[in-house]
Amino acid sequence: MARLPLQFRHNGREVALFVEGGINLLMVLREMIGDTTPKFGCGQGGCGACTVLIDGEAHLSCLTLAASVEGRSVETLDSLKTGANLHPLQVAFMENFAAQCGYCTPGMLMAAKALLDRNPNPTRQQVVEGISGNICRCTGYEPIINAILAAASAGTRERV
Ligand code: FES
Ligand code: FES
Repeated sequence: MARLPLQFRHNGREVALFVEGGINLLMVLREMIGDTTPKFGCGQGGCGACTVLIDGEAHLSCLTLAASVEGRSVETLDSLKTGANLHPLQVAFMENFAAQCGYCTPGMLMAAKALLDRNPNPTRQQVVEGISGNICRCTGYEPIINAILAAASAGTRERV
């Protein structure tokens, strides 16, 4: 298959590579760039494990044609912490026991980040809706919802 040039920003860093026309973004991130933080769960848009932000919006990278991110900004879990400092959402997940096996966690965190970036003070229902595309088989969701609400309220305290 013909290879196409592709340039985009990956966690703030410009990347340029040649990709097969039909390849999805998840494969480019994991196999070509070496960022394995977006997870391959179902590969069919049903689990949310592959969630990344494209220009700040949550997208399923397994259903995103890599060519469609030309010139755009892609953020993965790898961008969340700064050096040794965890992102407030990561701290809240840790403190609220919101991860067990952890396979859903990268996608959950990115979906939660997209939510809090557009709505820093969501209701519980809005949190539920914000992660409705992300499946967790371990936690029963309550600790995850509590963690996102805790991160939101920590952010609110910081801003006052
Ligand atoms: S791997 Fe993309 S939604 Fe499941
Ligand atoms: S912590 Fe295991 S799938 Fe969510």
